[in-house]
Order: sequence, then C-alpha cells, then structure tokens
Amino acid sequence: MLRVRGSYAFGILFRDIPEKLYAVRKDSPLIVGKGKTGTLIASDVPAILSETRTVCYLDNMEIAELSADEIHFFNIDQEELEKKETLITWDAQAAEKGGYAHFMLKEIHEQPKAVQDTLTVYLHDNQIDFSESGLSDALLKKLERIYFVACGSAYHVGAAGKYILEELTGIPVEVDLASEFRYRNPKLLKDSLVVIISQSGETADSLAALRLAKERGLPVLGIVNVIGSSIARESDYVLYTYAGPEISVATTKAYSAQLAVVYLLGIRCALVRGAINENRCSALVSSVKQLPQQIAKALEDPERIQWFASKYINAKDVFFIGRGLDYAIGLEGSLKMKEISYIHSEAYAAGELKHGTISLIENGTLVIGLLSQPQLYEKTMSNLMETKSRGAYLMGVTEEGNYSIEDTVDFAVYVPKTEPLFAASVEVIPLQLLGYYLSVSRGLDVDKPRNLAKSVTVE
Ligand code: M6R
Repeated sequence: MLRVRGSYAFGILFRDIPEKLYAVRKDSPLIVGKGKTGTLIASDVPAILSETRTVCYLDNMEIAELSADEIHFFNIDQEELEKKETLITWDAQAAEKGGYAHFMLKEIHEQPKAVQDTLTVYLHDNQIDFSESGLSDALLKKLERIYFVACGSAYHVGAAGKYILEELTGIPVEVDLASEFRYRNPKLLKDSLVVIISQSGETADSLAALRLAKERGLPVLGIVNVIGSSIARESDYVLYTYAGPEISVATTKAYSAQLAVVYLLGIRCALVRGAINENRCSALVSSVKQLPQQIAKALEDPERIQWFASKYINAKDVFFIGRGLDYAIGLEGSLKMKEISYIHSEAYAAGELKHGTISLIENGTLVIGLLSQPQLYEKTMSNLMETKSRGAYLMGVTEEGNYSIEDTVDFAVYVPKTEPLFAASVEVIPLQLLGYYLSVSRGLDVDKPRNLAKSVTVE
C-alpha cells in the first residue's frame, strides 16, 4: 500500500491463504459488511443492500481481513482496529426498479417523497432545526461569506443556492466547481462557511476541496446523501438529504433533496441574522412545505413531454436560456439532456446570447426558455423572441397562469406556482423528463450512459 500510487480500492486473494479476502483502499470508497450468507466488500451501499444494512467504511491505510463469517481490521502496522459500524436505514426495495422501466424514471417519481423525507427531518413544529448537525445559529450569524463547492448537478444546486441565499440572507455567496477550487489557491474570508454538496459523498474533487477548506481553517458543512461517506465523515457539520439510494447515473431525486436543504439553510440563516422577520420566515417555511405536492403535480402529465421528446430525437443542438435562478435551472436541464440523450445542449444566461451564441441559432433550433422569475419574465421573453426571429423553435416553461406565453412559444409547459425562490424544485421536473424521454426514444442506456460513473472517485 505504501508503494502503490494513485487512488484504488482492491479486494485481494492470496493463493496460499485461500480462506481469506483482504481489502484495502486509497481515496476510492470501499465498504465492508457481514451479510446473510457471508462477508462482502463493495464500493457503494446499494450493491450490498439486499445482504446487509450494517457496514463499515474502510479508511486509507487500513486493511480489512474477511473470512466467511468474520471481519477484522488492521492498520498499516498490522495492529488490530475497532471499527464503528454504520447502520443504513434504506430498505432493499429502494434499490430495485419497482415496476418502472428504468431507475431514472422511478427516481424522478420519487422526488416528492425525497423532498418530504428531507423536510421532515429538519422541520419541527414549523421551525427549522439543525441542532443534530451541530450547525449553530451563532456560526450562521457571523458569516461574512458562503462558498458552495461541488461537481455536476450538485454544483448546479450551489448555483441556484447563490441566487437564493444572497436574496434571503444578504450574505455574498460564491459558487465553485470543486475541480477548480482545489487548484486555484482560493482566497477565503475568515468568517465564512464552505458548503460541500454531494450525493455520493465520495466525489474525489469535492473531497479534495473539503480538505483544502479545512486546511485553511474554515468550517465545512456537508450536504450529503450517503450516510457515513467520506465527505460526511470529514465535514465539521453534516445536513443529510434523505433521498434514499440513487442508482441512475443521472441524478434527479438527490438534486431535489439538496435544493430542499439549501432552502432551509437560507431561511434559517436569514432569520437568525435578522434579514427576515418571523412572519416572512413562516411564509417561506409554509411555501417549502408545499413543494412535495407541487412536485407531484408537475409530474402529472409526463406523456406530453414524451410526445414532445419524440419530435426532437434527432436534434443536434439545444439551448436552455433563462435569467437569475432560471439560468441555474437551465444548467441542470442541459446536463440532464446531454448526459443521457447525447444531444449537445448549452445553458445560457439569456442576456448573454447576443454576445456570441445567438449566431448558432438557425431554422428549427430548439430553444428552451425558462421563465419562473416574475421580475425577469419580460426580459427573458424578449430574448426568446430574438431567437424566434432567427428561426428557433421555442419551448417555454413557466408557472400556471402565465398563459400569454402561448403568444410567443410553440410548446408551453406549465408548472405549479411556487415562491419564486423555490421554483427550481418544480421547473426542473419537465427538464428531467425531457432528458429521460429523449434518451429512451433514442434507444440509449438511460441508467448507465456511456463513459460515466455514478460516483466519480477519481479526479
Ligand atoms: O455524488 P456527487 O453529488 O458528488 O456527484 C457529483 C456529480 O458527479 C453528479 O452530479 C453528476 O454530474 C451526475 N451525473 C449528474 O446527473
């Protein structure tokens, strides 16, 4: 182990010790569990859920020695270690398709529950309670800056979080891709909080960013789905999301649960700093509590999106445009489309189009306009018209009631009206469905798109 370079997770059998399996790891995750029929190693919990719910996480430079019915742990000096067991509360059925054609579709439909389960843990008598995480009001009160650091969709939650938290709390918020943050020698303010968002809790770049923040003496809050994962263990505070196991490579329910935690963080922070009063806080909490039903409503008519997707299976380039929070939602919609349908798409801040990208619009190019923010509606609408006059075919996603959108767009999708700051939770739904149905119509492997892994444990 001292001589192997890079990151790895190995299960090793020796010809002359046939009864034993040894497991070691460096930076890549490795879990060990005792199942009904023997002992097991795996890289992720869902793989062994049907066998056991009690797992141990191996750390770097540790060795697990497994026989059929015993597990022993040692450090690199071969001294025996006591390891803490983690109880996984996910049930085995949660890691099965349950009648759905794909895990992704099942997980899309599990979003009301994922958000509800997450809210239930942190909302007690309509009060936001983070006490179990140790995240104190005193810490939130003195913050000068918040840094959201993550990868992929989790980064898009951070991008939305910037708009939401700056608006609610008045605290300046920065958002960084973990792979950039870790190498850019970031200048971090003393009284700040680094928030690492991760479904798996094992993403190599996010973990490295966490370690960098800690080296610089900053408190780290992890928003993590997998209990006991590396990011959860190394963060100073953890707010878990309760999305359950997510199997599809393209994240949906974990993204939605992460958003829910970010809303609660923003509201709590704003309240303790006096940026909002009790009345506004209650109104926001009650809006958040409506989200599970509103997400369920946004999921009611998937066939319409399926029909629309079938018309665009041969699209070459698609543009998602929006301003403010809608831009952040577009980033996620575009990633969903790209990663599973392999159709190139880009999310653009609507006001940036005329600085170059509009030259790509030609007859029939699909442009998806996102219009959930009342104060930006007219502005985005006028950008949509600019693309239409250059031949674009327009899909518009907006809240129920904005029916005048039909005067401009060719295909309108309505989502329930929410507090504008929480619109991502409903607006992302048709975008996830669009990516999903495009992938299905093109005959692709929805749950395991080419070249991608669920947990990106290498940089
Ligand atoms: O496990 P994490 O949330 O840290 O993963 C981050 C990204 O790898 C992940 O969101 C990825 O972008 C997904 N494939 C998006 O659907």
